[in-house]
Amino acid sequence: MNILLTGGTGFIGRALIPKLVDAGHDITVLTRDKAQVETPRISATYLWWDPATGEGDLAATLERVDAVINLAGEPVVGKRWSKAQKLRIAESRCDATQVLQKTIHASTSKPKVLINASAIGYYGARADEDITEATNAGKGFLADTCKAWESHAIRVADFGVRVVRLRIGIVLETDGGALGRMLLPFKLGLGGPLGSGQQWMSWIHRADLVNIILFALDHPEIEGALNGTAPEPVRMREFAKTLARILKRPCIFPVPGFVLKILLGEMSSVLLLGQKVLPQKALNNAFSFQYPKLQDALAACVNENA
Ligand SMILES: NC(=O)c1ccc[n+]([C@@H]2O[C@H](COP(=O)([O-])OP(=O)(O)OC[C@H]3O[C@@H](n4cnc5c(N)ncnc54)[C@H](OP(=O)(O)O)[C@@H]3O)[C@@H](O)[C@H]2O)c1
Repeated sequence: MNILLTGGTGFIGRALIPKLVDAGHDITVLTRDKAQVETPRISATYLWWDPATGEGDLAATLERVDAVINLAGEPVVGKRWSKAQKLRIAESRCDATQVLQKTIHASTSKPKVLINASAIGYYGARADEDITEATNAGKGFLADTCKAWESHAIRVADFGVRVVRLRIGIVLETDGGALGRMLLPFKLGLGGPLGSGQQWMSWIHRADLVNIILFALDHPEIEGALNGTAPEPVRMREFAKTLARILKRPCIFPVPGFVLKILLGEMSSVLLLGQKVLPQKALNNAFSFQYPKLQDALAACVNENA
């Protein structure tokens, strides 16, 4: 397949590209970064676009692709959630997806499928209930952002394109994401659960998320919402203990919720509030997880990068 990928330079995209290439696909990455465009490489073609306006190579590329994978968006974690930053987080996702939607509408040749990133933040903060793709949206900034983001993707289905809204969980690998940030304090023996430790963490090894994307590309029966999480979510306390055990370090320094709120402001909600999300649709369609258990997923991340 000819595949257009946005956000391909990020934490998920850089693991996805080699797998797509290995599977025989031709990849065009649209990036805002002109330095990426100028870097010679054989794996994929990198072209420039402005995801806020659609300027650049989007329209011409769309005329010749079979599939679009949209991962673009301002990082959710990292910068304090000022009013301006919250606007960037929400608008970067909505603008990029809306621009894709409008350009697909205008193109003479439509892709067969759009796999559009979303996040389990869609479900909002929950206690212990099992959450599947059938569960309603929750409340709060991230839930509202995901709802708006998905609403632009949903419209693409009106043009006869299969749309998959991939609600991604906490993606695990050591070169970024949540684990990338947690590793150093845990390696120093300063790790521990955040907040009460009771909140659910719906995690997924990055290799499994990449495989879910490939699975969704290849399975026309998969459409609509698709949870990108492992089958066994855990509470924060268990996550911290498992990570400490694998690193052979103690797990004795809990970080109270109020400290995180002072340090991180509203962004601390990403760490302190959780949801127990199950990959019901992937399991119903016989998707096979390489890392269904946290112990094995964390051990693979830590040991392969030791
Ligand atoms: N990683 C996770 O645990 C996780 C969890 C849930 C959901 N997701 C979602 O999955 C998608 C990919 O995640 P990721 O971790 O790979 O993301 P990432 O590394 O933070 O960024 C992905 C790419 O988005 C583009 N980007 C960054 N800021 C942007 C902005 N202001 N406007 C438009 N594009 C921008 C960049 O590509 P260029 O510079 O090349 O344009 C970047 O490489 C994101 O939408 C994210 O919200 C990720």
